[in-house]
Amino acid sequence: MTFDKKAFRHALGAFPTGVAVITASGGGEHIGITVNSFGSVSLEPPLVMWCIDKKSDRYHIFTKAPAFTISILGTKHEAVSSRLAKQGEHRLDGIELMGTELGPPALADSLSVFECERFAVHEAGDHAILIGHVLRFHCHEAGPPLVFFGGRYGALAG
Ligand SMILES: Cc1cc2nc3c(=O)[nH]c(=O)nc-3n(C[C@H](O)[C@H](O)[C@H](O)COP(=O)(O)O)c2cc1C
Repeated sequence: MTFDKKAFRHALGAFPTGVAVITASGGGEHIGITVNSFGSVSLEPPLVMWCIDKKSDRYHIFTKAPAFTISILGTKHEAVSSRLAKQGEHRLDGIELMGTELGPPALADSLSVFECERFAVHEAGDHAILIGHVLRFHCHEAGPPLVFFGGRYGALAG
């Protein structure tokens, strides 16, 4: 049986998600990547997850980093989200940031921030699943969430 990858992608796009930026430190700088694979995993211990494509330029930095920070984006972050989704565009220069205790900065005005230490990295086909142990979190409820649906950005209705 042939598997239609394009149709598969299209079908996956029918699941609306939020958008997050993950930041980590590597090679003497902080870097970021836009993801919509973020999810909650466990309350006790507090674990969250996201996935990274093995083809990403940033794969080795993120999978080896001892800590990463997850910023949940609002509609006001759409331009930053697009920028950090571009191939090779991972520097945070010019982006408004907020310091964290673990090190990798959060995006200013994020809806929530999760400061994580690396808990596990699992092989998963052409991606790896990164599980983070949440050591600190902040919830700012700073406006409407940025939503991704059908390959486009949007916002919640009403
Ligand atoms: C809304 C959105 C969600 C994305 N989610 C993921 C994701 O969960 N994991 C991932 O590896 N890449 C994801 N990407 C793609 C990356 O942001 C980036 O485009 C990709 O890593 C290519 O750049 P690089 O090779 O420089 O890392 C997403 C892109 C967008 C626009």
